[in-house]
Amino acid sequence: EKPSILVTGGAGYIGSHTVLALKQAGYEVLILDNLVYGHQDLVEKVLEVELVIGDTSDRPLLDELFKTRNIAAVMHFSAYAYVGESVTDPAKYYRNNVLGTLTLLEAMLAASVKKFVFSSTCATYGVPEVVPIPENHPQNPINPYGATKLMVERILSDFDVAYDFKSVRFRYFNAAGAHPNGLLGEDHNPETHLIPLVLLTALGKRESISIFGTDYPTPDGTCIRDYIHVSDLADAHVLGLEYLLKGGDSEVFNLGNGSGFSVREVIAAAEQVTGLNIPIQECDRRPGDPPSLIGSGEKARKILGWQPQYPEIKDIVTHAWQWHQKRHK
Ligand code: UFG
Repeated sequence: EKPSILVTGGAGYIGSHTVLALKQAGYEVLILDNLVYGHQDLVEKVLEVELVIGDTSDRPLLDELFKTRNIAAVMHFSAYAYVGESVTDPAKYYRNNVLGTLTLLEAMLAASVKKFVFSSTCATYGVPEVVPIPENHPQNPINPYGATKLMVERILSDFDVAYDFKSVRFRYFNAAGAHPNGLLGEDHNPETHLIPLVLLTALGKRESISIFGTDYPTPDGTCIRDYIHVSDLADAHVLGLEYLLKGGDSEVFNLGNGSGFSVREVIAAAEQVTGLNIPIQECDRRPGDPPSLIGSGEKARKILGWQPQYPEIKDIVTHAWQWHQKRHK
């Protein structure tokens, strides 16, 4: 049996794009997703790979999977990822993101599967001392979501020392955009992310886009983020997997473009792409938002040969717009 790659959270936003990239690179893929936020129809109609509906905290299910399948490596996308909710309901986040992951890692160890690609986040850095943020920047998360991801990163370092368990940890900046083929995109419920909300406003599904904070120490007073195209993230994951399969050592990589856009600049780009006027509403700051997050992707370029295809905000918004127009036809 050809070895497969187990992808947890493969029915979600970044996971689904990566599954497609893995398939295109010739890998067998098996998805494990509890479908709390994932999309079953997407897996069946677009990805066309096997879906096991289940949870990373279900140890008997994991043992069964590792026993009956020839799994070469695991890519772990499944996690709760709403920063605001993590502040109001941290228990939910520590249970799922930390305990669920630990259960998965222990099942992997028991089955001697020791290659792991992990979705971490720039939220582990907290408020950065310098931008672009290098990988060796201190990690002081300012919300429980970031803390859960940092805890898993720590577990992974310790597992490497103790069990020779190899991992690639990707710290994503702001995942955005949609597959250029128009078949995959960002579909969160509830939606909290800037670009989808701006486009839903353009579509008339919302009255206006709220700008959370206009008094930040940035040139136009609004927060700056490094938006990275989801297909570029997917490519990085395939490269990270190949690096591990070739015997690479554990590594951590930022995935960002090294340039940032303010909330106002994103809205302006969306007005340009859609040709529509997007009404704004200036609001108070949203708790937990650092003023500026920009990450250098230099290390991933150097070590993995990663080459982002869509660094321009215009392309990112254009692909997202194609997806939203189709989705809400
Ligand atoms: N924003 C608005 N109005 C909105 C929504 C967002 O002004 O309606 C602003 C936010 O305040 C922020 C920027 O737009 O300044 C981007 O916000 P998103 O919610 O799209 O993304 P975040 O930067 O909050 O979140 C992303 C990832 C998280 C990660 C976090 C790190 O989605 O997984 O970066 O801070 F934890």
